[in-house]
Parts: sequence; structure tokens; C-alpha cells
Amino acid sequence: MAGSNGLHSFGRRYAHITGWGKALPDRIVTNQELEQIVDTTDEWIRSRTGIQQRYIAVDPRENAVTLGTRAAMAALDVADFPVSKLDLIICATSSPAHIFPSTGSLIQDALGAARAGAFDLSAACSGFVYAISIANSMIVAGQAESVLIIGTEVLSRLLDWSDRNTCVLFGDGAGAVLMQASPVPGGVLSTVLGSDGSGGDLLAVPAGGSSIPATLETVASGQHFIKMDGKAVFRFATRVMVEATREALDKAGMGIGDVDLMIPHQANERIIRSSMKQLDLPDDKVFINLYNYGNTSTASIPIALCEAIEQGRLHPNDNLVMVGFGAGLTWAATTVKWAVPGAREVPRWRYSQRQATYSLARVRSRLLRYSRQVENSLTSEEGDALGDVLAQRIEGWRKTREE
Ligand code: COA
Repeated sequence: MAGSNGLHSFGRRYAHITGWGKALPDRIVTNQELEQIVDTTDEWIRSRTGIQQRYIAVDPRENAVTLGTRAAMAALDVADFPVSKLDLIICATSSPAHIFPSTGSLIQDALGAARAGAFDLSAACSGFVYAISIANSMIVAGQAESVLIIGTEVLSRLLDWSDRNTCVLFGDGAGAVLMQASPVPGGVLSTVLGSDGSGGDLLAVPAGGSSIPATLETVASGQHFIKMDGKAVFRFATRVMVEATREALDKAGMGIGDVDLMIPHQANERIIRSSMKQLDLPDDKVFINLYNYGNTSTASIPIALCEAIEQGRLHPNDNLVMVGFGAGLTWAATTVKWAVPGAREVPRWRYSQRQATYSLARVRSRLLRYSRQVENSLTSEEGDALGDVLAQRIEGWRKTREE
């Protein structure tokens, strides 16, 4: 933009969260129900983790794509943002619908976000904060105006429901935020990303990838289920949550006293409380909702963010810290200056308009598939053979004309 002195003045860009949404499967599974499945008790689960219930996708039609799409639609509704203008979709997930295509691409198709790039981000439970970091960099660098970030999980399909060490801990769900470029100072202030792959074996799904491909044996021995050394992960988590939070605050030029709200990854209440103690953060500055959801991996922070907003725990100009840890091992933290007021009133017709866009997206997807099939059949061997026959006939007809 040319300034009054004829020089170009390039204003700084900031990445703000402008929309948020969550989606959950219908079925709630309580600790008491788990008592019927494995050798556990409600008392053990509550006292060791804080979890009381979790949502589980029992409907086989529900998966990381369907939940992620619903959460994304909710976030776009809050921001009142047209899907046609989306630049990028980052889908953080530990339970993708497939190894490929990416869950992000399938969500892009379901939304009809025709202009958007899309990919999956694999950093386990730290994935959502990793995605915020990438979205922030893209927006600040001027590479994107709007980025939709989704954390979506159906971890219940990767759980061994006879292993009490893991099956009581996790839940299904999805959360999403829309991030947009703005000249208003605030939004993402700092990010910290970390990884220590030497601890990769502490929390893993051993088989099903290229290192141990799925075979009858791997399936029979349950190697495609989540395996975890709970105690080692616990020790790692309590250390990195504190370190990453301090580092992110330091990078933003803030101290612990500046924090208005911390939203930690919702894995275990004891991990969160240990971090709060070390950081000297009181109860009213930390948001915990794992009681109702269990550990939903990449979805835990955005689901908690939605609830914190619904409960009026975030106000304009608040300093928000989000911090996660997970398999990899990975960790990540971000500080955000919250700049948007609560959810805006969006006229009903705009909501209906967006629903119509999603119906059109389904038609668009079918048409694209159909046109690809037609194209394939025309260029396939049969198509070639048909082409040969036609060419011979035309040649024959030309010869008879010449004679
Ligand atoms: N019900 C009853 N007993 C259980 C149980 C369950 N659901 N799960 C494990 N146990 C038993 C174990 O078999 C073990 O028994 P043993 O001592 O006879 O071998 C005992 O409880 C383990 O107890 P303890 O070691 O004191 O548990 P803990 O305090 O370490 O808690 C975890 C276990 C898993 C809850 C805890 O270590 C944890 O949360 N770790 C981090 C996991 C995590 O967050 N993972 C996701 C990261 S994103």
C-alpha cells in the first residue's frame, strides 16, 4: 500500500482465532460401563485420571472425517466465514480415516472448500498446537489469509478394549478453529514446538505402517492397537508441560502472572495439577474438562477452548496459553492474545446459506467422481480398443470414398 510519502508501508499481519466449533459422537460411555468390560473400577479411573465418562463413535459411519467436518462447519458458522474463501485446511489427527488420502483432503471435499489446500499433521496429541504454529507462520508471512485447523479423533478404533491400561483413558471427538489474518495486534504471540523421537516406543501403534505392515499375525497379536508405558509418559508430560509453557511465555515477553487462562491437553488431571503446582497457577486460571471427554488427543484442546468460551472464561485481551504433549514424543505450547468477543449473532439465513453450500459440495464431489470415471473409461484399454475400432472404420470409409 503506498503511503502519503510515496513509500510503501507494509503493516504487520497477525493471526487471530475468529471461529471455533466442536463435534462429538452420540454415545457416552461411563466408567461404570467400562467396569463391565475390563477389570477396572470407577474409583480407580477417577482417582488416577479424573475421567468420569467419554464419547465413543459406535456408529460405523462416524469417523475422523465426519466428526472433523462437523466441527469445521461449526467453526465457520461462528466466524460467519464463506467456505469458498478458505486458503488452507490443516487436519491434526492420530486416528486418520486412512493412511492416505489425508483426512484433511476428505474434509476439504465434504466442505466444498474448492480453493483450499489440505493436509494431515501427525504430531499426536500435540498436533493441534503444532497446527496453530504452522497456520500462524503462513498467515504472518502473507501466504494465507484464512486457515482452518481441525483436531479430529476416533481413537476408540485403535484401542484394545481388553487392555485396561489404555482403553479407559481415551475418547472420540473433534474440535476446530478458524484463523484469519488481521492488522489488529494480538492473536498468536509465540509458539514452541518440541520432539524427542527416542521416546517413540513409549506410546505407539506398532503395526499397520511401512515398518510393520498389517498381516494376519500383527492383527492376531493386537499390534495395530495403542501400546503405552503410562508411567514413563506421565513423567515426560509433567516435565514438558511446565518447560514448554515457560518457554512460550518467555518468547512472548510474558511471565506466569500475565496468564489469564491456560488450556492444557486433557489427558490426566494429575498431570495438569502437577504442572499447575510447578507453575504456581491457581484453579481459576486453568481450564479442565477431561472429566466428560477423556483424552481426545488432537481434539482435546479445541474442544476445551470451545467450552471455555461457552462458559465465559475468555475475554478480549486475555492472555491464553495452550500446551500439549503426546506420542512421538512431542510437545508444543502457544500464547495467544484473545481479541474476539464471544460468539457473534449470525443471521439465520446465513446459516441456511452455508448449509445449502454443503449440499452443493456433495453434488460437486459426486460430479467430480463421475466425470473422472467417464474420463477413465474413455482412456482405458477398452476405450483405446474402441478408439482403434473407430479409427479402422473411418480409415475403411475413407478408402472406399477414394476408390
Ligand atoms: N483399572 C484398574 N487398575 C489398573 C488400570 C485400570 N484401568 N490400569 C492400570 N491398572 C493397574 C496396573 O495394572 C498396575 O497394576 P500392578 O501394579 O498390579 O501392575 C497399576 O494399576 C498401575 O498403577 P500405577 O502405576 O500407580 O498407576 P498410575 O498412577 O501410573 O496411573 C496412568 C496409570 C496410566 C493413569 C498414568 O500413568 C498416566 O496417566 N500416564 C500418562 C498417560 C497419558 O497421558 N497418555 C496419553 C498421552 S497423550
